Amino acid sequence: MEESIYGSVRDTLPLVMEDIKSRILKYAEEEKKVTGIGLIEHMSSRIKEEESMREKCVRKGLPVTPHTALYELHDAIGIRIVSAFIDDVYRNVVKIREFADCEIVEEKDYIKNAKPNGYRSFHMILKVKEPFEDVNGNNPGEFFVEIQLRTIAMDSWAALEHKLKYKKNIRNTRLIELELKRCADEMASTDLSMQTIRDLILEDEE
Ligand code: GTP
Ligand code: MG
Repeated sequence: MEESIYGSVRDTLPLVMEDIKSRILKYAEEEKKVTGIGLIEHMSSRIKEEESMREKCVRKGLPVTPHTALYELHDAIGIRIVSAFIDDVYRNVVKIREFADCEIVEEKDYIKNAKPNGYRSFHMILKVKEPFEDVNGNNPGEFFVEIQLRTIAMDSWAALEHKLKYKKNIRNTRLIELELKRCADEMASTDLSMQTIRDLILEDEE
């Protein structure tokens, strides 16, 4: 068998991923107890497939090595948090920024600044210190985790767009892109309306 693109760190990645997921579930549970608000609708996670990581190294013009996969690129470990409302997305962001032994090395707010195609999400890259040996031979080691945070509406749009993106040779590409963009903007506007409705309900409860 070919050696893993993640080298000797391969079996450690799921442990790091589980640690971060459990920290996320923990604050969400506490928040629910205190405020009654569930910050997370659902959460998913993955270790990037060997093949797709190799392909990404090549695409970026980087050597296909564990060091590239785990230290130059930052999405070997990916976690996606889907929330009901926009405010909840940002509440999650605030909580994650407070994680111990974690440095936020990058944030991209594609909610405030949607991509030209209409994609919306909040992206964070965490550099987390964990009691395992990393790709540089350090222990405690440094591991990167990409977290994508979005609403249900943003998530359903991204899922649909992803499906279409990998269908090659579609006719009417331009029209489809325009329509997708229009859907994204309509869904964003619905997200705002839903947030407003929720605020009205919460106000009433006070
Ligand atoms: P890579 O795209 O991973 O090379 O890095 P980048 O620096 O462009 O990162 P970015 O934060 O833009 O995107 C990282 C991830 O977000 C992607 O791997 C996707 O999972 C998701 N994403 C970004 N843009 C889109 C998009 O237009 N559509 C969908 N469906 N997902 C997207
Ligand atoms: Mg990209």
